[in-house]
Amino acid sequence: MVLSADSANRSVGIPPGVKSSFPAALAIAAEAVDAALELLLPKPAGLHARVQEAMRYAVFAGGKRLRPFLVMQSAALFDVEPQQAVRTAAAIESVHTYSLVHDDLPCMDDDDLRRGRPTAHKAFDEATAVLAGDALLTAAFEILADAGTHQSPSVRCRLVSELARAAGNNGMIGGQMIDMQAAEKHLLADDVITLQQMKTGALFEFCCVAGSMLGQGSIADEKRLRGYAHDIGLLFQITDDLLDVLGSAEKTGKAVGKDNEQGKKTLVSLWGIDVARQKAQGLAQRAAQTMAHYGPAADALQALPAYLLERES
Ligand code: IPE
Ligand code: IPE
Ligand code: MG
Ligand code: MG
Ligand code: MG
Repeated sequence: MVLSADSANRSVGIPPGVKSSFPAALAIAAEAVDAALELLLPKPAGLHARVQEAMRYAVFAGGKRLRPFLVMQSAALFDVEPQQAVRTAAAIESVHTYSLVHDDLPCMDDDDLRRGRPTAHKAFDEATAVLAGDALLTAAFEILADAGTHQSPSVRCRLVSELARAAGNNGMIGGQMIDMQAAEKHLLADDVITLQQMKTGALFEFCCVAGSMLGQGSIADEKRLRGYAHDIGLLFQITDDLLDVLGSAEKTGKAVGKDNEQGKKTLVSLWGIDVARQKAQGLAQRAAQTMAHYGPAADALQALPAYLLERES
């Protein structure tokens, strides 16, 4: 069942009658997921308190919370209980934060700044950052497998398996592997698109399809949401690569100019800034059209592509 805008708003916590504008919906998702993560992540205690401190340090550093937004908005299309959506959102933000902690390590992108502050391995040390990343990844599966996430064991099992697929060898990890070799290999634009779809798009796909899984939408819904996720995943990574060339460390909260410095091939380096922007605009248009199917209930999801095109952080 697809909801009216008002009932979709209520399920993400927006009062009836208030249109779920993009900034409001993003702020609501951020607030809700932060509150959930506060409860779900372990509090520093015991002989291993340092790893829990590092997990919290990386998570509570003011990320945009785009992935939680996607989970909550896609769940709102299918009348999913907010509690279920927010737990799933917390799981994906935990995986995403782990990916950033490991991405920043000296053996990977070797970055000192993340979310506007020292990276986890700088604030703690490399071993602690590796362990905190591992613990954030595994925490996500613990959250999804818990009965609080959904009453149906088969839905929980689907979520766990979808997240494992998205985060693993043929998803984000595979993409990160190609990315690490992107300087030496002769990659064509289609190879870079594959790289981006794996390293970034796969988690976006999980976020969008999770709403339909929680609300037991149709096969057609899942297909539509996967199509939307593919477009915004690629759009998101093109804008990330554009920001690496054109953006500032103050606004992005991370070092810029790194892709060029490390010889990484991106769609921006292959196509140039103007063509990359044009392609991003085409993806944004198609993504918004895909979501038009759901009418006003998908207002915020339709507004996301335009935000991604304009974003400075
Ligand atoms: C950065 O993701 C990593 C990429 C996949 C390019 P975000 O730009 O969503 O990072 P936060 O969560 O807002 O810090
Ligand atoms: C990282 O891509 C994607 C992840 C899976 C973490 P980038 O290396 O481009 O992300 P930033 O620019 O450091 O955030
Ligand atoms: Mg990287
Ligand atoms: Mg990086
Ligand atoms: Mg980048």
